[in-house]
Amino acid sequence: MILITGGAGYIGSHTVINLLNNNYEVVIFDNLSTGHIETVNMLKSIGDIKFEQGDLFNIKDLENLFSKYDIEAVIHFAAFSLVEESCINPQKYYINNVIGTLNLLNTMLKYNVKKIVFSSTCATYGVPKTLPIDENHPQNPINPYGNTKLTVEGILKDYDKAYELKSIILRYFNVAGCDHLTRIGEWHIPETHLIPNILKSVTEKDKVFKIFGTDYDTKDGTCIRDYVNVEDLAEAHRLAFEYLNKKNKSDIFNIGTEKGNTVKEIFDICKKITNTNIKVEETQRRAGDPPILYANAKKAKEILGWTPKKTLYDSIKTAFEWQRKLTD
Ligand code: UFG
Repeated sequence: MILITGGAGYIGSHTVINLLNNNYEVVIFDNLSTGHIETVNMLKSIGDIKFEQGDLFNIKDLENLFSKYDIEAVIHFAAFSLVEESCINPQKYYINNVIGTLNLLNTMLKYNVKKIVFSSTCATYGVPKTLPIDENHPQNPINPYGNTKLTVEGILKDYDKAYELKSIILRYFNVAGCDHLTRIGEWHIPETHLIPNILKSVTEKDKVFKIFGTDYDTKDGTCIRDYVNVEDLAEAHRLAFEYLNKKNKSDIFNIGTEKGNTVKEIFDICKKITNTNIKVEETQRRAGDPPILYANAKKAKEILGWTPKKTLYDSIKTAFEWQRKLTD
């Protein structure tokens, strides 16, 4: 059985569907602080999943979990992941993302579970020195969120050397889109991410979309990101788990489309797909935002056999369908 921490959240829940489609047994562990019980219930209607509500800070919850289920590996999503919030409240991020993960890793060791797929991020690279960014690019995060993920990467290296706990670290770029059957989707409260925020300006009356910064050194002055589809990303997690199972070897992979789009380009595609003249306001930069991030993901393609199959258009289309469902 595979343990999915944070399986009630955005990327975790899409990965659960991928694993169910590939006949894996999963147990979700989630404290529902940002994940949703409605998502868990939807997943339960799709396949035979187990759900345990619990907290990474409660060692008893973790021990109950590991003693109740025969866990062979962990895919660890549970974390806070907002760049700006991490600049305002770094304590929250260090406690949750670092200490929570340490509790998980130590419980894994106690129960002799020695395989983990870990959600890391391109935010560990900081402001890129070379583009596209490959896995050997220096890591100098410019925000606390990136620091917490880099810290865990370091812990995983040490735990491999000392305890043979093997990890696949996936450093993903920006994630977009929703389940193509609109059963689950991106659902953050409050929503801070680009694509859902643009789409909310279509589905919610009087909401004006704000562009954070138009004075970056990019072709139109707005930030460039690499938007990978969430179902493609879910597939990368399954492939990473299978690779880990087969090779029992730690490794690190970027997961991205290798294409960068500016905020204004994304806005234009949203206007086209929704056929709406979306209200927009240009405002100042947001704290912690690097100007340009896009991936070199060749290593994942060559070693994991992963290829992104969905287009940005697919992602925005499914995100819009989901957004309409949320506001219905
Ligand atoms: N943006 C706007 N207006 C909005 C929201 C976002 O202009 O209303 C801009 C941001 O300033 C940024 C870009 O759109 O330039 C993307 O912002 P998101 O909030 O969608 O995503 P981030 O790049 O800040 O962060 C996301 C995840 C992180 C992850 C990172 C990797 O939240 O966990 O991608 O780049 F680390």
